[in-house]
Amino acid sequence: MTARRLGILTSGGDAPGMNAAIRAATLVALDHGISVIGVEHGYRGLVRGDFRGLEADDVADIIRAGGTILGSARCPDFHERATRDTARRRLAEARIDALLIIGGNGSLAGARALADPAELGDQRLAVIGLPASIDNDVGITSLSIGVDTAMNTIVEACDKIADTASAHDRTFIVEVMGRDSGYLAMATSIAVGAEVVLFRESGKAPEALVAEVVAAVEAAHRRPGRDRHVLVVMAEGVGVSSAALKAGVDACLRGLGGDLAHTETRVTVLGHLVRGGSPSAFDRLMASRLGHAAVRAIEAGETRRMVAWSPTEGVPEGSVRSKADPRCFLVDLDAALAETQRMLDGTNPQVQWRTRVFEQIKGALQL
Ligand code: F6P
Repeated sequence: MTARRLGILTSGGDAPGMNAAIRAATLVALDHGISVIGVEHGYRGLVRGDFRGLEADDVADIIRAGGTILGSARCPDFHERATRDTARRRLAEARIDALLIIGGNGSLAGARALADPAELGDQRLAVIGLPASIDNDVGITSLSIGVDTAMNTIVEACDKIADTASAHDRTFIVEVMGRDSGYLAMATSIAVGAEVVLFRESGKAPEALVAEVVAAVEAAHRRPGRDRHVLVVMAEGVGVSSAALKAGVDACLRGLGGDLAHTETRVTVLGHLVRGGSPSAFDRLMASRLGHAAVRAIEAGETRRMVAWSPTEGVPEGSVRSKADPRCFLVDLDAALAETQRMLDGTNPQVQWRTRVFEQIKGALQL
């Protein structure tokens, strides 16, 4: 028997495109005779029963909005069985028999626990997750909702910073979000033609990071032409603060003497700016397709799955291509979370490839 009442929840750090996923899932569900309930404030709201009905009018114009109309929250209590039991009771009281959870790795871990058959007993509840995190740190999916927009925001900011850096021949350290993942820094460093990129996965010690920046400043001084600016894109999670990096670089340059000693460095921390803003065309489209595939998966009786976007590595055993969308794969949440863990500990092949290739092409790209 297919679901009759679908709950939709956004959780963890918001990501541009979450609204596009909410909109698509709502419209497809309503069109297929499934009523839709928005859960406000993530898992915290789920536990409190912060529910409101969603109709087509409620989602009519949200595709271009950043953030999430449902609100989001982090809810560490969800690790407790008793909290999850309360959440399941709330869902049963509201007669919600399917739940779409849109968020990053913590949110997807919550989805898996919520749908644990041993905890569910005879409650009927299908749970499907969608990967949404600007950090692109969810396993199996090649992209998560929000990554493309975040990259575009970083590129726009770096292009502007490069203008002023170039005018003053300065070294700019631009810190971008990515607590546990250097993806944003790595991908955007190529897109902006940065001289240096620093990311956690390289495993480099702070002194080595300082040395990389100093070497780039020296190289800039050997460049023909007037412009001596250096753009450094640094991932938040690299293991040294941008202020400490600047202090280390300044001290080294002063020690080198000559023109180098007069090089000025500046720091820009893009921070939460990278998480906001109207989603890019690609994020709108991908999130809509994921939202559509999620509802179709629920209708097909799937549960405890994440819908992955176009995985580049092979998909784990038991995964199936969505019948509704050839780019979307239904992957067991267990498998997606296991791969997410491998991304974190550096044993995921794609993370290894990225790290290796950056070392190999550094010279060619002048990174
Ligand atoms: O969503 C992940 C993330 O964007 C990280 O890159 C960043 O460290 C973190 O969120 C910031 O979280 P908060 O908004 O809770 O400070």
